[in-house]
This record gives sequence, C-alpha cells and structure tokens, in this order.
Amino acid sequence: MSAYTTPSGDRLDPSSTPAPRHVAIIMDGNGRWARARGKDRLEGHWAGYRTLKRIVYAADELGIEYLTVYGFSSENWKRPDIEVSGLMRLMLSAMRAEIEELIANGIRVRVIGRLDGLPQDLRDEFQAAMVRTAPNGRMTFTLAINYGGRHEIVDAVRSLALSVADGSLAPSEIEETTIQERLYAPETPDPDLLIRTAGEMRLSNYLLWQSAYAELWVTPTLWPDFSREDLSEALAEFGRRTRRFGAVVE
Ligand code: IPE
Ligand code: IPE
Ligand code: MG
Repeated sequence: MSAYTTPSGDRLDPSSTPAPRHVAIIMDGNGRWARARGKDRLEGHWAGYRTLKRIVYAADELGIEYLTVYGFSSENWKRPDIEVSGLMRLMLSAMRAEIEELIANGIRVRVIGRLDGLPQDLRDEFQAAMVRTAPNGRMTFTLAINYGGRHEIVDAVRSLALSVADGSLAPSEIEETTIQERLYAPETPDPDLLIRTAGEMRLSNYLLWQSAYAELWVTPTLWPDFSREDLSEALAEFGRRTRRFGAVVE
C-alpha cells in the first residue's frame, strides 16, 4: 500500500489516516455527463465504467478493505429498454474484460442483488467472477446489481420466516444480528463512508439496513468525472468526522 498525496498536498497514509474499512458509492450522474456533451446516455455509462476501473484500484491502494458500488438498482428497470439492455451488455463486456486483471491484483469480487432477475449470460459471468476471485485476499469489491435495500430486507425476512416455519428458529430468537446474517453479504462490515456523486441527497434504496451509521459525503461531481483525488478528499473528510453512534463523545 502506498501513501498518496492529493493535489492540495493532503498526504493520505493508510497507516496513519483513520481510513474507513468499507466505502460504499452511489455512482450517479452518467446521464447528465453524457447530456452535457451531446452524447447518448449509454456513452455516459461507458465513461462511468472507465471511472469505476480507476477507482477500484485507487481504493485498494488507499487501504480500503471493502468497496461496494451501486451499479443497477431494482428501480432502474423503469428506464427505456434500450438503456437497460445497453447496461446489461456493458456489464457483461466489462466483467469479461476486467476479470484477469482483478485476479492478478488480488481483488475479491462479490455481486449482491437479485441475480436471478438478470440475463443468464451476465449471471453466469458474475458467478464465475465470484468463484474465481473467492481466494483473493486484498480488497473486496462488491457490485450491487439488480439491488434494492428493501428487496434485500424482504429476502432476509422470507429466509427467517422459512426457518421459523420449519421449527429451526423461534421468533423470540430474532435479533439484529439474526437479520444481519441473512443479508446478501453477511460477512461484510457495515459501510463507514457512503459517497454519492452528482449531488442528489438521497439513498435511492441503497444499503438501507447497513447504512444506519454510515457517514454521508455527497459531491456535485458527476460519476464519469470522479477521480482518485475526489476519493482522497472524501477519505480526508471522513478522517475529520466524529462518529458518535448515539453516544456522547467529548
Ligand atoms: C447512474 O447514472 C448510473 C445508473 C443508474 C445505472 P444515471 O444514469 O442515473 O445518471 P443521471 O442521474 O441520469 O445523470
Ligand atoms: C441510483 O441512482 C442507482 C445507481 C447509481 C445504480 P438513480 O439515478 O437510479 O437514483 P434516482 O432515481 O436519482 O433516485
Ligand atoms: Mg441518476
């Protein structure tokens, strides 16, 4: 892991900066980026993919252990068919193009969301990426695809209801940890820092359960323009925050 100096001279040394273990990102603004350039929305998504590639390796170098990005929400099916199918194709080619480099760099890939709602070829590609990178020990890179925070909670509740119905779980045994254990990635710690690009001040159904105490950081920068320096700035700001978790901190 290397120390990194931002243009403003901020030196981010992962060993001395209280780095967040888990950073979650709502990568928003691809459409606005494209529109500002007179381009098709899909070109914005391709530019967003190039940004994501840079940010994955930057995050790893900055000492982040878990990076979780919102790639396609359970509500994004409402978009025009041409955009939805273009996004599915983009994700397939991107995963095919990137998998060897991700493996070579020791990145572990996870995909969370209702994968059974995705085209079969994309699902297979995601499954293969998860299996091939499972032994990797550096950063865990999680893609939230066909993901909705409410769907995730519904799926956890269904799974708990099945256990109650088959007699293996008593309702009185259900605690926060019992629910947490049925989420899509139970071994992943809650996000410490939640970044949203493109200025919108909302969660858009992202990691609803897990973000209970995440520090929020919103930037007007559109996702395709988001840089390693922007990520460093978010981390520096995170280092200045006081997290209280409801307690009194002097
Ligand atoms: C985020 O960019 C990417 C996805 C939701 C897939 P948008 O496509 O939402 O971009 P804007 O919000 O229209 O600018
Ligand atoms: C959230 O962005 C979903 C992703 C970034 C994948 P949206 O653009 O879909 O969110 P809204 O519609 O502005 O809330
Ligand atoms: Mg958007």
